Amino acid sequence: MSMSVKDAIAARHSVRAFAKKALTEGEITELIEAARNAPSSLNSQPWRFKVVTAAADLAWFGTSEATRKQGWLSAAPAIIISCVDLAHYIKDSQAAAFFFRDNKLIEGEPMDGIDAYVAREAAAAEQAKFGACAMNTAIAEAFLMLRATEMGLGTCWVGMFDEANIKSRFHLPEGYRVVNIMAVGWPDEAEVFPRKRKSLEDIVIS
Ligand SMILES: Cc1cc2nc3c(=O)[nH]c(=O)nc-3n(C[C@H](O)[C@H](O)[C@H](O)COP(=O)(O)O)c2cc1C
Repeated sequence: MSMSVKDAIAARHSVRAFAKKALTEGEITELIEAARNAPSSLNSQPWRFKVVTAAADLAWFGTSEATRKQGWLSAAPAIIISCVDLAHYIKDSQAAAFFFRDNKLIEGEPMDGIDAYVAREAAAAEQAKFGACAMNTAIAEAFLMLRATEMGLGTCWVGMFDEANIKSRFHLPEGYRVVNIMAVGWPDEAEVFPRKRKSLEDIVIS
């Protein structure tokens, strides 16, 4: 199936009911590939994805305090834990800045701005670094959600979770932070209600 981006944006909604049908490895790769192509600050690509498909782990998500027992999660055939690697975020940002300079892709004042930006990021508090990494990762995940919609898959971003609990169960590296978990699967929905959205007047500053 192929869809315009406009149609994918219109069709995407949070799916919380899934058919009992697994995703193939190829389908999962398609999703990660969409995220991989997203833009990021200084091309830092701080996102790291842990794809969970084992039945016991999926059941755990729906019954655990780690997600405040959001029971519907147990029916998802795949859950993607989106993490960021804070240490590499700084290294990769610095490397990109060197790349720009060495290849004279950007010269003069903009390069000074980039140097200052990288220095600020390196000196920033962990929480500020996490904010920047999470911003980049959210863009990648938006790409992933739209690609999923095009493939006929449903997704739901889950922000209500306990990070320590999830890091421990899936042995995620110490320096990683979890941005969210994303349920993915083939939708099995009775009725899709129209989404409530603020009007253009509400969100465009005049
Ligand atoms: C940052 C964020 C956190 C969210 N957390 C949850 C969650 O923990 N559980 C859940 O069922 N939905 C969660 N959602 C989905 C939202 O409820 C949903 O996107 C919103 O109501 C708009 O509906 P739509 O996605 O169908 O357009 C979250 C969405 C975002 C972007």
